[in-house]
Amino acid sequence: MNIVLLGYMGSGKTAVGRQLAIVMGREFVDLDLLIEEQLGQSISEIFDRKGAVYFRKKESEVLREVLNSKNSAVIALGGGTPIYGDNLKWIKDKKNTLSIYLKITIEPLVQRLWDERQNRPLIAGISSSEALEEFVRKHLFERAFVYQQADVQMDVSDLSVEQAALAVQNIFQKEQGVI
Ligand code: S3P
Repeated sequence: MNIVLLGYMGSGKTAVGRQLAIVMGREFVDLDLLIEEQLGQSISEIFDRKGAVYFRKKESEVLREVLNSKNSAVIALGGGTPIYGDNLKWIKDKKNTLSIYLKITIEPLVQRLWDERQNRPLIAGISSSEALEEFVRKHLFERAFVYQQADVQMDVSDLSVEQAALAVQNIFQKEQGVI
């Protein structure tokens, strides 16, 4: 069974996924990193040089490769992965995949994203934290109904990376009937 982590930028998919993989002794796959490796460019460079449409096509392609080739990995998606094309349907239709939405409230999200905005093409041009908050509120509102279609939702707002990873492991084991 693959564990797929989805959610908005900055929700901790990569950090929690990496920790979860360590705790569970599983392979960790980060979709953004895989795309960067395959293309030899950072996500920002891909957006700048090739454009968003190219990125989204590549993202769908890599998602399919990963879901078809892995069977017991922890997979962190990009924030937009389930939003575009039929990616969500692909994730939901895979029988060996448990999808988990890492939910986080606006305040900690904006705080985190403000510090990291340079590496994130969708928000790199936003020049004040107030404007960022307004963007995130609207954008998350538009996307939340897609994220909410994950098999499980988990609020990670008040959890450390370690706590969130343990909580996901717990949910996974319950879903599997292990505990
Ligand atoms: C995006 C999120 C990013 C990355 C790209 C687009 C999005 O991933 O895939 O910048 O549309 O939300 P993270 O959620 O890992 O930052």
